[in-house]
Amino acid sequence: MRYDDNLTAERKTFVTHLECSATGERHAADQIHNLSRAGKPLLVRYDLDGVKKVLSKDALAGRAPDLWRYRELLPVRRAQDIVSLGEAMTPILPLPKAAAKINGGELLVKDEGRLPTGSFKARGLVMAVSMAKALGIKHMAMPTNGNAGAALAAYASHAGIKTTIFCPEDTPEVNVSEIGLQGAKVFRVNGLIDDCGKIVGDGKAKVGWFDVSTLKEPYRIEGKKTMGLELAEQLGWSVPDVIFYPTGGGTGLIGMWKAFAELEAIGFIGAKRPRMVAVQAAGCAPMVRAYEAGVEHAPRWENAHTIASGIRVPQAVGDFLILRAVRESGGFAIAVSDEAIGEGLEEVAREEGFLMCPEGAATYAAYKQSLADGRVKRSEQALLFNCATGLKYPLPPIHRALDRHEPIDFSQF
Ligand SMILES: Cc1ncc(COP(=O)(O)O)c(C=O)c1O
Repeated sequence: MRYDDNLTAERKTFVTHLECSATGERHAADQIHNLSRAGKPLLVRYDLDGVKKVLSKDALAGRAPDLWRYRELLPVRRAQDIVSLGEAMTPILPLPKAAAKINGGELLVKDEGRLPTGSFKARGLVMAVSMAKALGIKHMAMPTNGNAGAALAAYASHAGIKTTIFCPEDTPEVNVSEIGLQGAKVFRVNGLIDDCGKIVGDGKAKVGWFDVSTLKEPYRIEGKKTMGLELAEQLGWSVPDVIFYPTGGGTGLIGMWKAFAELEAIGFIGAKRPRMVAVQAAGCAPMVRAYEAGVEHAPRWENAHTIASGIRVPQAVGDFLILRAVRESGGFAIAVSDEAIGEGLEEVAREEGFLMCPEGAATYAAYKQSLADGRVKRSEQALLFNCATGLKYPLPPIHRALDRHEPIDFSQF
């Protein structure tokens, strides 16, 4: 097996069509699409009986450990369209000391900070850009809270596609810099991500760019789906009891839910599903409010604010899909305060030597809160998502000074 087998080998593909997630209406595959004719996200559908016939667990086990090993369940038809920066499988780490401290049970974290551009946004964008290359798209545009823009810039530049990116004014400097350095034209906008999204939408007709906003194109979700495929394979073709997912636009949560259904259809897992928990910040929790109100859509959250910038998404086009997955799974939606996020981040870093991003720390804070209120039991295996490396975020200054010219008091160490 060569390291690049998954990127170079032609493998049979099984996409049959795209389907409107609200009405079920069919749309043709292999054409440029944004939302469905009903204005809702499109989902890619596969001939899963066909996949079942050609793909075995053993065949998968012999492939290189990257996202492209799941090719039969992905939309890219030709190997030449794969745009790769090395999408390694991300490790699952146990957090036994942190769990013991809060009287928890088996606690795992999938560390997505190891992906290109340091976040799980690489999964969605590598797929969207590969499909854009296949379909001949020349200019892509996107609103972003930072990480998605960085991933788009990287992959689009790699593929020779032009990109224009809009982010909220207070997006962390590191994100704006990486986007610009990776070849995109990037703008800070005095508004939130949905205000940036409006500019992208308005420019579609005028500039002719392709809108890559969350769930407004069909392929980011297919890339994010690989989190579900990967974790099931890593857990020996089983799923955890509960998954805590930091939810902004919700692509990953919806994608994993789709992944589990596809894995069951091809006979790789059984009917068991994890309870899906949508984690949001108390300062921006539209899904939690809608979940608690028992409604299907989540109106815009006004004056959204949180230190976990990736989940500061006031309104999501896939709101009904997020809420549906959460409810069908028997999960729930939960909000955590910025204080709890900060405390969680420090606790895991100190206990485990593992520096989470604030959004990842939000899932740990949510686990802790759910244990305390009884919504999660110690007997359950829980899996958290650390969706970006903690090193991408501003860190608090921590230092002690030592004067080497003075006698050193060694009792202090
Ligand atoms: C670090 C981080 N976590 C979570 C999210 C939310 O992801 P999703 O859009 O899949 O809900 C984002 C999105 O920007 C992010 O950057």
